[in-house]
Amino acid sequence: MPRTAPWWRSAVIYQVYIRSFADANGDGVGDIAGLRSRLPYLRSLGVDAIWINPWYRSPMADHGYDVADYRAIDPLFGTLAEAEQLIEEAHRHGIRVIPDIVPNHTSDQHPWFRAALAAGPGSPERDRYVFRPGRGPSGAEPPNDWVSCFGGPAWTRLPDGQWYLHLFAPQQPDLNWQHADVRQEFESILRFWFARGVDGFRIDVAHGLVKHPELPDLPPRREPAVLGPLAPREPVDEQPRQHVDHPHWDRDEVHDIYRAWRKVADEFPGDRSFVAEAWADTPERLAAYVRGDGLHTAFNFDFLMSGWDAKDLRAVIDDSLAMLGAVGAPATWVLSNHDVMRHPSRYGRERVKRWTANEPYRPDGAADLELGTRRARAAALLMLALPGGAYIYQGEELGLPEVEDLPEDMLQDPVWERSGHTDRGRDGCRVPIPWSGKAAPYGFSPAAASAAPWLPQPADWGGLSVEAQTGDGTSMLELYRSALRLRREHPALGDGSLTWLETPEAVLAFGRDPGFVCVVNFSAGMYRLPAHTSVLLASGPVENGLLAPDHAAWLAV
Ligand code: GLC
Repeated sequence: MPRTAPWWRSAVIYQVYIRSFADANGDGVGDIAGLRSRLPYLRSLGVDAIWINPWYRSPMADHGYDVADYRAIDPLFGTLAEAEQLIEEAHRHGIRVIPDIVPNHTSDQHPWFRAALAAGPGSPERDRYVFRPGRGPSGAEPPNDWVSCFGGPAWTRLPDGQWYLHLFAPQQPDLNWQHADVRQEFESILRFWFARGVDGFRIDVAHGLVKHPELPDLPPRREPAVLGPLAPREPVDEQPRQHVDHPHWDRDEVHDIYRAWRKVADEFPGDRSFVAEAWADTPERLAAYVRGDGLHTAFNFDFLMSGWDAKDLRAVIDDSLAMLGAVGAPATWVLSNHDVMRHPSRYGRERVKRWTANEPYRPDGAADLELGTRRARAAALLMLALPGGAYIYQGEELGLPEVEDLPEDMLQDPVWERSGHTDRGRDGCRVPIPWSGKAAPYGFSPAAASAAPWLPQPADWGGLSVEAQTGDGTSMLELYRSALRLRREHPALGDGSLTWLETPEAVLAFGRDPGFVCVVNFSAGMYRLPAHTSVLLASGPVENGLLAPDHAAWLAV
């Protein structure tokens, strides 16, 4: 594949969860100034772009995914001028910048929602959101049975008797995407940021914008309703994957919105691109987001949701490449992000299961982090050798595990409260990352910080810091650096195709032209590598041509 193909077909994009990346002003929360100071690190890591989680003005009910002003930076993170400087400096380092856009909902403090509350039932202001009367004789029942992704009903009742829809927290009212104002406003917001030089957007909850016009109740769940020891409950892993017509996820009409957005991106010079956060039931449904005149790319969550299993992963890889290839789109692989348990902790579970879209991942048993880290190293080499682009979630390159023992009184994710303290939420993957030193804040905040990091860092993270790993050839960080360097230099890597080599079922091996082979050993025994001229990179020692269990190697052939 010629290197003249647009950058986003093969980019490695680093996800910056800005609250937890680097804190320059010492308030315990990451900020734009901190990110700017770490651009040389990102350059030396060798990534092509950064995706920055929402940095807009927000009351932070969901850490920025509740936006009150899409054209302003929240003072916690900095100023618009600093954001503009960041974009310019990143470009100077050869790093593209992709902010997050949140179109499914606003904050309840957004001027539109405040106006809607003030204007009352039946007003045109309320039309921009989803307000409805309740059910039952006095309207005391919610309009339908939809549930919030954070737990509890997806509806909140106002003192005037009306209910409003929020697929997430009550502070995140859903917009009405049938309304022309909403469509125009978001196109204008895109232009505002494109004009400031951003290279694209990550689209939050891209599959959720359009709701069934009649807001019907949810379809029956695939699992049997009657639970109990005798209920014939199929484990998730065994269920065939099929698309279920759903009243608010992945409705066909959503693609009209993105065709219009694509036109907006195309108004600007350079290759601007979108990546959709779309949790789709099947690869075909995901491919619909990136066909023809739609979006450029979409996260491949099937890869992330797979267990550590050669057969499952191979099926996901084949299906994804086939479905995306059929519409001319590249794949974008992802192992971790700010919403899911970090993958060394997932892969360190005895039963490493696949789970389904729009469901929280629930771990079984305790993690074996040595095992999980070994697999995470192999997974990185697998991901970075596959055709297409890839995402790295900050801290993944340090091998950070999920922090599973955060004290309950420190938990901040709205999921914790909304679930009635049954789901600890996503804080465990959002702990501020360690840069240097032997004790918290590990260089995340300056020495003279006025506040501790917003989530406590584990006492044993000194060895995982950037400083500790730099120059240590056995570290996760140096593995990522080497892999990214090879990926940039090797003509076989990035966009293109692969050919499977013949292997036992528990080993994956594929070739890419010219002269490259990736082998991953999922089996419990040693595996003899195919003929090669040299080992370019391996996740652990390769002796006598044998690859150990849970290891991967890149070969020159
Ligand atoms: C997306 C984000 C998640 C956020 C939610 C609501 O799933 O990734 O962090 O809470 O949308 O905006």
